[in-house]
Amino acid sequence: MIKPVEVIRLSATVVAGFGRGGKQLGCPTANMCPKDLGDALHDTPTGIYCGWATVDGQGPYMAVASVGWNPTFKNTEKTIEPHLLHTFESDFYGSKINLVLCGYIRPELPFTTLDDLIAAIQSDIALSRKWLETEEAEALKDEAFLAQY
Ligand SMILES: Cc1cc2nc3c(=O)[nH]c(=O)nc-3n(C[C@H](O)[C@H](O)[C@H](O)COP(=O)(O)O)c2cc1C
Repeated sequence: MIKPVEVIRLSATVVAGFGRGGKQLGCPTANMCPKDLGDALHDTPTGIYCGWATVDGQGPYMAVASVGWNPTFKNTEKTIEPHLLHTFESDFYGSKINLVLCGYIRPELPFTTLDDLIAAIQSDIALSRKWLETEEAEALKDEAFLAQY
C-alpha cells in the first residue's frame, strides 16, 4: 500500500553513483548531487517513494526513488536516487532533475541477495505505476516547480 505524504520537492544536478543501478539491478538511477540538495538531503526521511520528475524541463515522468544509505550495500553517505519510468536514449549526467515525491512505499531494507532487491524494486515500480495513475497523484504533475528549468 502506498501512503500519500506531504509533497517533498527536490532539485539537483545528476551526478555519478556507484554504477550498480543499471548494470546489476536493471534499474538505472539518477543520483542527485548532495551539494545541490543541501539541507533537503538530511531533512528527507529515508525510504522508498514515488512521484514525478522532470529532466532539464522535459517530462514529467513517473518516478520511484530511494532515499537513504542503500543498506544492502552499506553505503556510508545518504543519497537520493530516482529511477524514472521512461526509456532515455543516453545517460543524463549533468542534467537538472526536479523531483516531487508524493507517495511513501516502504522503508529501505538490507536484502541478503541481489535477486531479492531486484524483485522488491520491480514490485515498487508496479505499485507506483498504478498509484501515480490515480487522479490524486496525477494532479501533482502539473506543479509549476516541475517545469522550472
Ligand atoms: C525503487 C527502488 C527501491 C530501492 N530499494 C532499496 C532497498 O530496499 N534497499 C537497498 O539497499 N537499496 C535500495 N535501492 C537502492 C539501490 O540499491 C541503488 O539504487 C543501487 O545500488 C544503485 O546505486 P548507484 O546508482 O549508486 O550505483 C532502491 C532503489 C530503487 C530505485
